[in-house]
Amino acid sequence: MNIIENLWQTDHIIRDWLKEVREDILSELHDPLAVAEKTSRKDLVTNVDKANEKKIIKAIRSFDSQAKILGEEGQGDQVTSMQGHVWIIDPLDGTLNFVKQRDNFAVMIALYIDGKGILGYIMDVMRNRIYGGGPSLGVFTQDNELTKPTNLHLRDGLLGVSGPMLIHDKYHLQAIDEASSGVRIIGSAGIEFIQVLTGKQNGYISHLMPWDFAAGKILAETLDLSVTKVDGTPVDMLSSNDVLVSTKDTQKDILNMIR
Ligand code: IPD
Ligand code: CA
Ligand code: CA
Repeated sequence: MNIIENLWQTDHIIRDWLKEVREDILSELHDPLAVAEKTSRKDLVTNVDKANEKKIIKAIRSFDSQAKILGEEGQGDQVTSMQGHVWIIDPLDGTLNFVKQRDNFAVMIALYIDGKGILGYIMDVMRNRIYGGGPSLGVFTQDNELTKPTNLHLRDGLLGVSGPMLIHDKYHLQAIDEASSGVRIIGSAGIEFIQVLTGKQNGYISHLMPWDFAAGKILAETLDLSVTKVDGTPVDMLSSNDVLVSTKDTQKDILNMIR
């Protein structure tokens, strides 16, 4: 199937994959988890992260023979360029929340073709909401199309941040937070992106890997939000970045404070 010519059909298929993954997660929710530390006791992976990734990769491979897959847990491909069909997946975003709260975690899937964001999906598992779409479709949750969030200034809304960046005052983040209406720390990039997409926060700043922001970037840009590095330069899709997603006026306000 030609994906570009059948975007709505592809959208339905991806949403079906996510619904199946959600059923799997819910069936494991009350069972003991196999938890392992990756780089530290705050950077975890569970059997559910790995099982989700395996399932999503299998679904992508049987759907798209041209797929190159970048997955957080390493069961995909070694992706070194954005040429062709590049799928970027975070099989469970907010693993620490999943382990400690069984809440505030997401599953994310993005498709880029020759470097252009085509489709992005963020599923808020516990609220049973999939936010998905892309520049040709718009952004939908269930059957409702999201409208573009109001272009708020920094002072007029809530800002999501990474805890470590705030504690270390990177980019004068404490002053930036002071200038906002208030700061929020959720601990899942996917859930933070949803807050910005739905206008509940006017921005989010964090140090992120490609799978943390790939889907959110497509959805945010479709809604006229800006997604850049914190210094305003373009993000690199294949490495870690300090990412700022925000309304355009909030981005200007933040850039004025860090320059
Ligand atoms: C993490 C979360 C967290 C962000 C970290 C990510 P993971 O994802 O999105 O909010 O601050 O940088 O690594 O590892 O739970 O998928
Ligand atoms: Ca993850
Ligand atoms: Ca993540």
